[in-house]
Amino acid sequence: MTLDIDVRGKLVVGNWKMHGSTAENDALLAGILAGASSSAGCGICVPFPYLFQARDALRGSDVAWGAQNLSEHPKGAYTGEISAAMLCDLGCSLVIVGHSERRALEGESSGRVAAKYRAAIEAGLTAILCVGETLEQREGGATERVVAEQLDTVLEAVGVEGIARGVVAYEPVWAIGTGRTATPRQAQDVHAFIRGRIGDPDVAAGLRILYGGSVKGANAAELFAMPDIDGGLIGGASLDPREFLAIRSAASAAMER
Ligand code: PGA
Repeated sequence: MTLDIDVRGKLVVGNWKMHGSTAENDALLAGILAGASSSAGCGICVPFPYLFQARDALRGSDVAWGAQNLSEHPKGAYTGEISAAMLCDLGCSLVIVGHSERRALEGESSGRVAAKYRAAIEAGLTAILCVGETLEQREGGATERVVAEQLDTVLEAVGVEGIARGVVAYEPVWAIGTGRTATPRQAQDVHAFIRGRIGDPDVAAGLRILYGGSVKGANAAELFAMPDIDGGLIGGASLDPREFLAIRSAASAAMER
């Protein structure tokens, strides 16, 4: 399935990170597919070796698939890298760029993230741009400055038209994998800030901004009820089909309100 990027419905995307095996994935994919169809968009971003498996399982379903990273280069002598065209060749419609784990552990700068974002959208992929501050930055009052720098670098590289071809995910680093979720109000404030920063009012109004960081079935509804939270990027809870489906149901229910 390809996500309809022109409609700002709710969207739930799983980020499997470096988890899974072919056997575990078979069970997880079957569990996801067993869920009732839902009005909220849905996708999963899996480790590269399992893209074939995701494609074979999800083709024809209403669940999109994609990767967690890509190269900023189109092709060439880049050992170990994966291009946007290769992802398209495997039927991907999504790719995460600038996840905080890559920024922190792989030293990805905002400039490099912007180049990856550009490579993704030029190939026709929906790029999910992750932004977010560390605990130290939040406590130092630097949340907006940090998020603005991460967002503006991409905006400058691709313009508002380019931003319109992606999705933003606000993921406070202190909430990722910690069980400590941002409160709906804390998340809403940053989401509204991000939307307000997109110069063009039409693009801003149509932009999907996901929240990520310890989203679970139990806290999804209150987050998705916020006016600027258009769904979630889900790590740990995306590895459990019941949790993941509960989050997707919460997104659908929020759309019907
Ligand atoms: P988490 O991860 O849901 O496990 O906190 C979210 C993410 O890193 O995208």
